[in-house]
Amino acid sequence: MRLLLIGAPGAGKGTQATRIAEHFGVAHISSGDLLRHHVARGTSIGRRAKDYMDRGDLVPDALVMDMLRKPVIKATKAGGYVLDGFPRTVEQAQAAYRVAKGLGASVQVAVLLEVDSATLVARLVARGEEAGRSDDTQEVIEHRIAVYEERTQPLIDYYRQRERLVTVNGDRPVDEVTWSVIVQLERVRRLLTD
Ligand code: AP5
Repeated sequence: MRLLLIGAPGAGKGTQATRIAEHFGVAHISSGDLLRHHVARGTSIGRRAKDYMDRGDLVPDALVMDMLRKPVIKATKAGGYVLDGFPRTVEQAQAAYRVAKGLGASVQVAVLLEVDSATLVARLVARGEEAGRSDDTQEVIEHRIAVYEERTQPLIDYYRQRERLVTVNGDRPVDEVTWSVIVQLERVRRLLTD
C-alpha cells in the first residue's frame, strides 16, 4: 500500500501513521520528523529549514522533495509507505506525481483526518507544555492552522477529484480513529488487488 495522510496540525497524522504503517507492514515517512532530525543534527537541510519551521511556514518545496526522494523510493521497493505531512500543497502533489509515476511509486489513496480547530489548538498547546516542541506555542499553532487552511486544504479536492480520498472523523479516541481508517483502507486494498 502507498498512502498519505492529510490533516491540520494536531489532527493526529503522526499518531495514526505509525499505527497504519504497522498494520500494513510498510514504512512511515514523516516530512516533519525528518526535518526536525536535520535541524537537530545541524545539517545543511536543517539549517535552511529551521526558520521556516519555527515560524510555522512551509519549508521550500525543493528542500522537502530532495529530502524525501530516496526514502520514498526505498519504501516503495520494500512494499509501500505511509506519508505523513507530504504533500502539503497541490504544487508538491503534482511535482511528486511527475517524479513517482515512472517509478511505480505514486500514491494510491489519501486519508483525510477531520478535526475542528478548537480541538487542534487544545491538543497542540497541551503537547507544547509537555514535550516543548518549538512550534507548539499559541501564536505559531494558529499560524500553522492558517497555513493549512490556505495552502493544504486545496489538496482535499485534488485527491477527491482523482477518487482517491478516504475521510475519517479524527475527533475521537485514538483507537477508534485507527480502527475506522484501517477498515476503510482494507476496502481500498481489496479494490486495488481485484
Ligand atoms: P509536521 O511535523 O508535519 O507538523 P504538523 O502538520 O503541524 O503536524 P503535527 O505533528 O503537529 O500534528 P499531527 O497531525 O502529526 O498530530 P500528532 O499525531 O502529532 O510539520 C512541522 C513543520 O515542518 C511545518 O510547519 C513545516 O514548517 C515543515 N514541513 C513539514 N512537512 C512539510 C512539507 N511537506 N512542505 C513544507 N514544509 C513542511 O498529534 C498531535 C497531538 O495530539 C499529540 O500530543 C497526540 O498525542 C495528540 N492526539 C493525536 N490524536 C489524538 C486523538 N485522537 N485524541 C486526543 N489526542 C490526540
